[in-house]
Amino acid sequence: MTIPEFKRRKREGKKLIVVTAYDALFARIVEQAGIDVLLVGDSLGVVVQGNKNTLSVTMEDMLYHTKLVAGATQQALVIGDMPFLSYQVSVEEAVRNAGRFLQAGAAAVKLEGGAPVVDRVAALTKFGIPVMGHLGMTPQSVHQYGGYKVQGKDRHGADALLEDAKALEAAGAFAVVLEAVPADLARRVTETLTIPTIGIGAGPYCDGQVLVLYDLLGLFDEFTPKFVKPYAHLKVDALQALRRYKEEVEQGKFPSDSESYH
Ligand code: KIV
Repeated sequence: MTIPEFKRRKREGKKLIVVTAYDALFARIVEQAGIDVLLVGDSLGVVVQGNKNTLSVTMEDMLYHTKLVAGATQQALVIGDMPFLSYQVSVEEAVRNAGRFLQAGAAAVKLEGGAPVVDRVAALTKFGIPVMGHLGMTPQSVHQYGGYKVQGKDRHGADALLEDAKALEAAGAFAVVLEAVPADLARRVTETLTIPTIGIGAGPYCDGQVLVLYDLLGLFDEFTPKFVKPYAHLKVDALQALRRYKEEVEQGKFPSDSESYH
């Protein structure tokens, strides 16, 4: 999957499928399933590192996980998520940090926000670094929102989000993630932009969909937003397996003769 191919999908009306990945093992499984894009999301701060939000994730954390994912990926597009404070301070810092993602093996970066980051998006694009925007409920602004809340619900908020999306496209973004926004607004944005929209909690009208891998697999159940659909229940399976293992070792059933060397 290349950036031109990614953009072409919208014209062809073929949905783009995006999943987050944080390590080589899952990157291989996700790719084997035919997923188009692996997003090394800063959601790793919550689902991998166990923090309350994504704000403490560092560039070093992100580069480490990007290397693991990119190193295990053959065909899918790998996008690195720029963490808090890696692009907000200045255009220069944004360019340097985004470039480090490409050196780690990503083919593109994602960053959050609209008007305030448009100059970053333009600079990165100018220097050959493809950028995916991210609007709506942007988790790095969680304190400003006072929690993870649906955005763009009133007329003013919806119009502002649409303007931000248009500005990101004009600055050169190749796609925009729409997170936790009403489905009608996501449809308006999708119909207005020529670049693909990727929804997460944005209804069925986006050009593609993204989910956090551990939510999709039912591995992370501490906080499950309405928009998550678990397609498996791996935490339940893991617990069952571990409890059985514990029981069998305690009872002397494992290891048995067939797991022993002679
Ligand atoms: O960090 C992340 O995983 C994300 C996606 C949920 C869009 O930003």
